[in-house]
Amino acid sequence: MSTFRYWQTPRAGNMARLTLYTGNLPALADNHVRIKVHAVGLNFADIFALTGLYSATPQGAFIPGLEFAGEVQEVGQQTQGVAVGDRVMGVTRFGGYTSVIDSEADYLIPLPPQWDYAQGAAWPAQTLTAWYALTHLGALQAVQQVLIHSAAGGVGLQAMKLAQALGARPTGTVGSEEKASWLRQQGFEDVLVREADFARQLQRDERGFDLVLDAIGGKVQSASFDALNPMGRLVVFGAAEFTPSHNRPNYLKAAWRYLRRPRYDVMEMISSNRSVLAFNLIWLWEQKDRMQALLEELQTIALPPPHVGHRFAFDDAHGALALLRSGQSVGKVVLETGQ
Ligand SMILES: NC(=O)c1ccc[n+]([C@@H]2O[C@H](COP(=O)([O-])OP(=O)(O)OC[C@H]3O[C@@H](n4cnc5c(N)ncnc54)[C@H](OP(=O)(O)O)[C@@H]3O)[C@@H](O)[C@H]2O)c1
Repeated sequence: MSTFRYWQTPRAGNMARLTLYTGNLPALADNHVRIKVHAVGLNFADIFALTGLYSATPQGAFIPGLEFAGEVQEVGQQTQGVAVGDRVMGVTRFGGYTSVIDSEADYLIPLPPQWDYAQGAAWPAQTLTAWYALTHLGALQAVQQVLIHSAAGGVGLQAMKLAQALGARPTGTVGSEEKASWLRQQGFEDVLVREADFARQLQRDERGFDLVLDAIGGKVQSASFDALNPMGRLVVFGAAEFTPSHNRPNYLKAAWRYLRRPRYDVMEMISSNRSVLAFNLIWLWEQKDRMQALLEELQTIALPPPHVGHRFAFDDAHGALALLRSGQSVGKVVLETGQ
């Protein structure tokens, strides 16, 4: 194969600018592995990158996408530990919406034999995020009560499973009754459909949590902080409330939300004995050793393959992104190249 197909935008700011191109493959660098991509995992960060609301987004033209799964096609002369024909999943700092990707071997993980490529593309970014939030920052202990927002989503579902595996007690929140009943069918008993007045809902149910994982922001986040037990931790890693409802952000609305975002007073946090932590895992890409260590930790937890809720053809990236942006998706949204 000498050509490949990829989705690229000339610049961030409008999702409609994302266009499918065909290009010629360059010669493979000696320290890279060439992978025929079978599946691309979508992340909420793709939407924020394409709309220009994500600070880590490259300047100018870029290919979105943070994770993929496929088959090794060619191995650079200075690369070891990977062979042609290996099935792998991988992470990339952008560049994932492509039918062929060149990657350093350090960013590749063997795909478990019983998993399909879509499941592989659904695993690295969201599982690492959930694990880092729950354990490294959240310091979750067995029997502790953890509140996980967007529990039917990519990160949220992995977090629910990991929390259970750690012996903790997860409470999931979701935006609809359909998602709640789906989660209950998966064996998660404690699921809340967030009401308009989420603070009152938590107070009415006399809820208290040792840990909260939040990537929504706004009133949901401040109500969650208020429901922390003493010694409780709020871990923040996203702000889905800023999601644009169309291809371009409504800057006025976003500015209004930004001005009204929750703020925390560290002096008050000492008095109330509760804390706030935040992170963006994309910076881990530059710290290979730390990333490898996290991946090794995860291998000690026997999780089932991630749930792929929605499979789209590679050509339908716009349809897949529209579904993810709608907030209606369950589990992972994946593009399949069908090659
Ligand atoms: N910091 C990091 O390193 C990092 C890494 C990965 C992901 N993240 C963040 O983690 C969150 C989850 O990511 P994901 O890829 O797994 O996505 P996802 O959870 O599969 O989908 C996002 C979910 O956000 C909820 N949501 C709340 N308000 C929304 C709104 N106004 N519009 C649309 N959806 C809204 C929806 O679920 P409900 O309505 O059911 O809550 C929606 O399904 C995102 O905010 C993402 O940016 C951060």
